Amino acid sequence: MIQTETVIRANDPVGGGCRRMMLDAPPEYGNARPGQFVTLRFPDGSGPLLRRPFSIHGVVKAADGTVGVELLYKVVGGFTQRLSAMRPGGAVDLLGPLGNDFGVDASARRVWMVAGGIGAAPLAFLARRLAEMGVDMASCALFMGGRSADDLISTERFADLGMAVHATTEDGGAGEAGLVTAPLAREAAISPPDVICACGPMPMLRAVAGIAEARGIPSRVSIETVMACGLGACLGCAVETAGDEKGYRHVCRDGPVFDGGWLKR
Ligand SMILES: Cc1cc2nc3c(=O)[nH]c(=O)nc-3n(C[C@H](O)[C@H](O)[C@H](O)COP(=O)(O)OP(=O)(O)OC[C@H]3O[C@@H](n4cnc5c(N)ncnc54)[C@H](O)[C@@H]3O)c2cc1C
Ligand code: FES
Repeated sequence: MIQTETVIRANDPVGGGCRRMMLDAPPEYGNARPGQFVTLRFPDGSGPLLRRPFSIHGVVKAADGTVGVELLYKVVGGFTQRLSAMRPGGAVDLLGPLGNDFGVDASARRVWMVAGGIGAAPLAFLARRLAEMGVDMASCALFMGGRSADDLISTERFADLGMAVHATTEDGGAGEAGLVTAPLAREAAISPPDVICACGPMPMLRAVAGIAEARGIPSRVSIETVMACGLGACLGCAVETAGDEKGYRHVCRDGPVFDGGWLKR
């Protein structure tokens, strides 16, 4: 984990009130793992007191040895509003890489990913890393859901790797009308994958974990709770876990990725 003041290289709108940001990063980010996150704040100490967490969306290693870290973020409040106004050349304070990872390696042949809106951020990094490890991406699939077509962000990153993309929108504006769990359950009944990895709103994660459990498929879910200290020192990010793991876990210290079977439903 490294804290550094770094430079923004790109901060481009990608639709749906979201932006993709590229930051210069220390060489150690070359070893960042899909599922890990960073926290940001403004270097002059202005803005919100608490650092804001964002999943690593990609890591780019240039021929000259420099490393860039990509983030995909949705503008929802004060911090992300201010971040969206920053231009290339501006500086942010970057802390990371933090947290655990999806724990999926090249031995998993059929990996399904389930994204709710901005939940595509860490899954695109996972897809890219699996492709680099030689996994046959045509055997993998993305199930992406949103309220409307605007929420279907970054699907091209998965399609470009050869993955099948099953898109759903609640208003029926793009893809299949309804919730992302409908095609997931339907396809899982026909030919279940080796593992399901998901990131999105908590109700979606609970439903995905339930579908996986019913079919005996391992699942790994990345939880994006509101965070306060980010260091395991408060209860700001506590999630209740169930079964043999009954209790409370801290997303910042124990996650953000958990076995789906741990989620209380
Ligand atoms: C491990 C982790 C990874 C994350 N990765 C990403 C990512 O890749 N891209 C991205 O856009 N966001 C991500 N988030 C969420 C991101 O941290 C928040 O959107 C951000 O902190 C909001 O800051 P703000 O000051 O702009 O909004 P605030 O003013 O803090 O909040 C605005 C509104 O959004 C709500 N809100 C804030 N955080 C969350 C949250 N985590 N979940 C649901 N509602 C929330 C608040 O309750 C409030 O209603 C992640 C969160 C975690 C914990
Ligand atoms: S945010 Fe304080 S314990 Fe996780």
